[in-house]
Amino acid sequence: GVTPLTQILSGPFTERYAVPAINVFNDLTLEAVLAAAVENQSPLIVQTSVKTVKSIGSDVLYAMWTAMTAGIEVPVTLHLDHCPEREVITECLRRGWNSVLFDASKLPVEENMRQTVEVVAEARAHGAAVEGEIESITGVEDGIGSDIAAEQQDLAVALEFLRTTQVDVFAPAIGNAHGSYKQAPVLDAQRVSDLVAAYPIPIALHGGSGLSDEQFRDLISRGCAKVNISTALKETFMKSNLAFLETAAERQKWDPPSQFRAVRQDVVELAGSLMRLFGSAGRA
Ligand code: 13P
Ligand code: ZN
Ligand code: NA
Repeated sequence: GVTPLTQILSGPFTERYAVPAINVFNDLTLEAVLAAAVENQSPLIVQTSVKTVKSIGSDVLYAMWTAMTAGIEVPVTLHLDHCPEREVITECLRRGWNSVLFDASKLPVEENMRQTVEVVAEARAHGAAVEGEIESITGVEDGIGSDIAAEQQDLAVALEFLRTTQVDVFAPAIGNAHGSYKQAPVLDAQRVSDLVAAYPIPIALHGGSGLSDEQFRDLISRGCAKVNISTALKETFMKSNLAFLETAAERQKWDPPSQFRAVRQDVVELAGSLMRLFGSAGRA
């Protein structure tokens, strides 16, 4: 059933496996990733971007979440991805989202810290969790992020942020980027180990699409217990639709439900493959 984020991540963090945090953007993708979690007996973090919240509406989105998770037996949780807007944070927390990523990485660290303290207090009042970020992750994903390589803060600054704000999860910049990588990324995996050694909380690995199985395994073994995937799912969704439509056009057969079924199956398969790769399959 619906489970707090801290609870979803505690086993994975101590046992060094990871839970996929998948960005969904409509009813089909939400239903498909939940079905993959059930099929693979895996915990799952469902994420929504601010763009998705605004396009569907938090009321409709949350109603879908409630309806589709009713009676579900694997642990699942609803998370608001990169959100710089305090009003949207408040709206989602009131609605029932289980956690939020307050993304004030574009603000000076001092101001980010001051506001993150407020967001943590607000989230706690709703029994929700907070992910924190002090370095803007490179690459633009649903309008969030920066095209300029993120500047890493000193470890001491990151630790002060973590101790002061008491966030539950931390999202560091380690050479990772949103979107597909133009060249193979060189990651600063040691930074994850340093952070976890100094302040042991689950680390969120952003920009998951495009990393190698080996990179996932290494980072997960160092404490990345939440692995964010967005672009790969969008790509699967779009390509699956395209393939179906090409055939439909050839045959002049126009049946939307069979298209949805085909696309759903591809999304279920992608989500399931992530659960098996990250080691969360069979852990529900
Ligand atoms: P990708 O789009 O590279 O998978 O990144 C996802 C992400 O970090 C969402 O916050
Ligand atoms: Zn991200
Ligand atoms: Na990526």
